[in-house]
Amino acid sequence: MHGVTTESQGAKAPLAGAGELRVLLTADQIASRVRALGLEIARDYDGERPLLVAVLKGACMFQADLARASALDLELDFLSVSSYGSDTTAQGPPRLISDVRGDVAGRHVLLCEGVVDSGRTVSYILDALGSRRPASLVVAALLNKLPCRKIEVPLRYVGFSIGADFVVGYGLDRAERYRNLPFIGIPEEM
Ligand code: IMP
Ligand code: MG
Repeated sequence: MHGVTTESQGAKAPLAGAGELRVLLTADQIASRVRALGLEIARDYDGERPLLVAVLKGACMFQADLARASALDLELDFLSVSSYGSDTTAQGPPRLISDVRGDVAGRHVLLCEGVVDSGRTVSYILDALGSRRPASLVVAALLNKLPCRKIEVPLRYVGFSIGADFVVGYGLDRAERYRNLPFIGIPEEM
């Protein structure tokens, strides 16, 4: 039992075998912000059936919660892009590892991304999906690391603007770990 769900912001959350994390965003903060985004999206897409495309794996939790927070008739799809390998530094340009299953032509596409850092990944995906003639294509990012931006990308919905620290949890990993944390934290040993 590590009882991480009750941690408050700034608290240190010990995780079995994983050292300590400083809590940046609690599970409650994330849940209430994602609920608000879900309502906004429900209003903006009223009468449409948007396609929520998650950038795997990091956006899996965000997409799932966002979809449930907006009482819309919507569809889910997924794609996967690699450029970061398993560590914290970029390793070459983005590459499409797996594509969406469905056709995006004519669809209102809402790209769900966990964290936008340099902007390269989102920029690459916007180019790739944008060339397939969607009816609309906008981005919902849970986290916006504005100080790290190298390429300007339009973000229609943003959960939180944060600093340059490498963060983990709520889908985000470091070397594939920490994705299942209910909060977002900064690993202490970094
Ligand atoms: P960008 O292409 O530099 O914007 O980086 C976006 C991708 O890098 C995300 O999809 C993540 O996979 C990864 N990434 C960037 N910053 C972080 C972080 O703080 N924690 C976990 N993954 C990150
Ligand atoms: Mg990663």
